[in-house]
Amino acid sequence: MLEADRNGPQKGNTNRIFPYEQTHHLIPIPLDKLVVRGGNFLEGSLTVSGSKNTALPLMAGAVVANGVSVIENVPALRDIDTFSRVIDVTGARVSIDRESHRLVVDASSVENAEAPYELVKRMRASFYMLGALLARMGHARVSLPGGCAWGPRPVDLHIEGVKAFGADVELDRGYVVAKARGGRLSGGNFKLTPSSVGATVNLMLAASTAAGGSRIENAAREPDVVVFGEALRKMGARIEGLGTPTIEIEGVEGLESATVTNCADRIELGTFMIAAAIAGRPGEPVTILGAQPDHLGQAFVDAFVETGTGLTSDEDGTVHVVAPEELKPVSIATGIYPGFPTDLQAQWTVLLSQGRGNAKVVDTIYSDRFKHIAELRRMGMNAIVLGNEVVVEGGVPLTGAQVMSTDLRASVSLVLAGLVASGETHVLRVYHLDRGYENLEGKLSDAGIDIERVRYDEFADPVAEATT
Ligand code: EPZ
Repeated sequence: MLEADRNGPQKGNTNRIFPYEQTHHLIPIPLDKLVVRGGNFLEGSLTVSGSKNTALPLMAGAVVANGVSVIENVPALRDIDTFSRVIDVTGARVSIDRESHRLVVDASSVENAEAPYELVKRMRASFYMLGALLARMGHARVSLPGGCAWGPRPVDLHIEGVKAFGADVELDRGYVVAKARGGRLSGGNFKLTPSSVGATVNLMLAASTAAGGSRIENAAREPDVVVFGEALRKMGARIEGLGTPTIEIEGVEGLESATVTNCADRIELGTFMIAAAIAGRPGEPVTILGAQPDHLGQAFVDAFVETGTGLTSDEDGTVHVVAPEELKPVSIATGIYPGFPTDLQAQWTVLLSQGRGNAKVVDTIYSDRFKHIAELRRMGMNAIVLGNEVVVEGGVPLTGAQVMSTDLRASVSLVLAGLVASGETHVLRVYHLDRGYENLEGKLSDAGIDIERVRYDEFADPVAEATT
């Protein structure tokens, strides 16, 4: 073993090899992980936070309105932080009270029609600034979003759509540069192929202050889009057809600021329902508060009930889930709303692993959103990915392991697996999870789960760590 020269390599002395960690202070990379000790029952109640995927469009809409808008029930998430910084760049100002979940956007002065790469690369929904800035300023320079954990996610529909509404668009070194011909979009018609949530949101933003009428065909019907459209109406937009495949918008001069309320997060609700189905005490109801079960879509509800899990809801939306003695395997295929949400397919594979028999998950929206399967296999799950589907064998006990988060919904499926695995599961890099789940460990531990957040250094020497 070379005795490293404590003074480090001398000038000109290039034939000595200096072990890096002996001559440099390793810069720690403190990351958080969730440590789950499996085997406890999930019991009592959980509370759903505001919807991430509705809060983001609502924030973009607030940038179009000249004034101070308030959005109630906004979750405290990393994606909300990221988008707040994206909005900051324009000159608008954002503040959020994480206790009251009230977010304020002061868009009285918006003078920089830009969304920079450094922020857009962190969160694809930042691309909503294309439509928002075109509507507010008549031009926009927005970075193209990068790929994401599960492959390319194009924005061609967003770009072709704003062109159809009267924008000239060019690509300039990774940025989309869009200018409304004559300074204001004319409006127009555009058909989305395939249907797209993000493109529907972006085109609604762009069309809201166009000089004429616009029609979006094959529009997304997700509750996120409907709640967003209702908020735009409250700001003075003239929109018909929300929740149907054809949305008609009559442009207005400008939007007025308003106070709007975000809906509950339907994906967090679905995630908690699956947690209760696999980790609830059989026969004992788990209560989920603050929910809007009518936003789940019929396909998910039907599949969930088919597993034999009890599901009831009260007038106020409170959901009660009763785990069965044994879960029936139910194969699903994702689809656009009201189909089975692709954002719940990773969680569903964990439910399938707890039933008897084989079943499969087909994702028709994204062809390669199965990064979590390799991690779940490390916990003993017998699952095989074949193209855009995964076959899961039920009844194979899971064991705790160190597993790596790769994206938001994949990481929460690892936590769900940890609930029912024997021993400890360390879910690493939970910054992915923090993008879309507010205080997950707090909510689960209040419902009987043994889970804690631990700071760790990803590159610490495991041997040294083990012996300290
Ligand atoms: C939204 O993403 C959600 N994100 C996603 O949730 C969700 O998975 C997705 O909708 C599908 O439901 C937000 O709402 C912020 P799409 P989005 O455009 O809008 C294709 C989460 O975990 N497409 O509806 O990006 C695309 O490739 C996130 O919270 C084009 O071809 O999804 C995909 O196959 C992950 N061209 C399909 O449409 C385009 O220009 C649906 O994508 C745009 C999309």
